Amino acid sequence: MRVHVDQDKCQGHNRCIVVAPELFEVDELGTASVVGDGHVPAELEDDARLAVDNCPEYAITTTDD
Ligand code: F3S
Repeated sequence: MRVHVDQDKCQGHNRCIVVAPELFEVDELGTASVVGDGHVPAELEDDARLAVDNCPEYAITTTDD
């Protein structure tokens, strides 16, 4: 699994950082991005799904690659 952030949609709610701090980071404006290349280790896949479900802007998606 890989996680993605659409930075055009992100409004800095920062819920992704709360539910999956290993997978996301924020810049000084509060805009999220993925850590590294966005690869999600198997043990963090539930956290990635939680981040998708918790982003009010629907800015987070996952793919199966
Ligand atoms: Fe942005 Fe959504 Fe996270 S708005 S900071 S991607 S919870």
